[in-house]
Amino acid sequence: MWALASGHHNHHVPEMPKPACGYIYLHGMQSIALHPVQVSLPITINLVSLTRRWLAKEAMASTSSLSAVLLLCLAVAASAQLSPTFYQTTCPNALATIKAAVTAAVNKENRMGASLLRLHFHDCFVQGCDASVLLSGMEQNAIPNVMSLRGFEVIDSIKAQLETMCKQTVSCADILTVAARDSVVALGGPSWTVPLGRRDSTNANEAAANNELPPPFFDLVNLTQSFGDKGFTVTDMVALSGAHTIGQAQCQNFRDRLYNETNINSGFATSLKANCPQPTGSGDRNLANLDVSTPYSFDNAYYSNLKSQKGLLHSDQVLFTGTGGGTDNIVNNFASNPAAFSSAFASAMVKMGNLSPLTGSQGQVRISCSKVN
Ligand code: HEM
Repeated sequence: MWALASGHHNHHVPEMPKPACGYIYLHGMQSIALHPVQVSLPITINLVSLTRRWLAKEAMASTSSLSAVLLLCLAVAASAQLSPTFYQTTCPNALATIKAAVTAAVNKENRMGASLLRLHFHDCFVQGCDASVLLSGMEQNAIPNVMSLRGFEVIDSIKAQLETMCKQTVSCADILTVAARDSVVALGGPSWTVPLGRRDSTNANEAAANNELPPPFFDLVNLTQSFGDKGFTVTDMVALSGAHTIGQAQCQNFRDRLYNETNINSGFATSLKANCPQPTGSGDRNLANLDVSTPYSFDNAYYSNLKSQKGLLHSDQVLFTGTGGGTDNIVNNFASNPAAFSSAFASAMVKMGNLSPLTGSQGQVRISCSKVN
């Protein structure tokens, strides 16, 4: 099913330098918890490389490059408006309400933490963290999402609770961002401070969801390009892939790996084949855990699995070759140093949450996350 998307990948033409805004680089983060001051100060914006990349892509004339930089700065200013205390006076119980609801949902069904984390990723990679993925239809019908994304009802129910507490105040995009963090925490992972103040889109983009979400058959070069397009470093990408320490995938997304790849542990492959037969169409939707060793703990076992050739998806295993090349060193570091992983993951999640947010008077605060007001 993903094959359809591959042909279009990265051929989209950004109308605006929107992928460039909001990429803040955090310096000197020593602890996992990102305190407000560390989030907002000091930030430097990698204008040079972002502008260069954008210009290279679009082959811009020099006059329009000037306006590109201008637009870029405006976009960055929009993102810099996010603040961890955004709802402190307008909805003081917002964060506690979200946390309680997420914890309850994860306790009820432990896979839900994974599903909520993935929802946030699929929101942010498509026109930024604007809750576009929550609008009925549209992006939800895109190949990576259809019959795959889950957890919408948890977000809808949190939104309903918040509407009774503080009418039209807390955006769906912020609920999703906080829910992703609380999901990680509920499963034993690191915590971080979430900058807030995102607003919700009035539109969604199915084509962009097909083009910009990386498919599981991608190699390291494609993955690096895909994450690089959003301003992520290779270390960010390897850290974010560590999200696959929780959750499940469908047979159709790892079948080729079981039957056609050689860099897979043979016992691991054999055990998975039982529930994922070779013929296309048989057991396509059967599930397997992305982390074979500790599927419901947000830990660094994902990286040890990769070192044992027990990555479930092709796109997981390409992060570790065993030859010392590619991203092997990063995987080795995260496998042996849980604090390094936690810190890198938290930092990359803040960065992901800052992808092109709508702020100020842009967009709207939806009353119901599944439809525009
Ligand atoms: C590196 C590129 C990535 C690729 C190619 C990829 C691909 C996939 C695929 C194919 C699935 C299984 C979907 C299904 O079979 O229904 C999946 C599940 C998942 N992905 Fe990723 N993903 C990537 C990165 C990420 C990132 C950056 C995050 C979050 C930070 C993430 C979080 C998850 C989670 C938590 C699940 C399990 C969801 C559940 O059980 O409901 N993934 N991913």
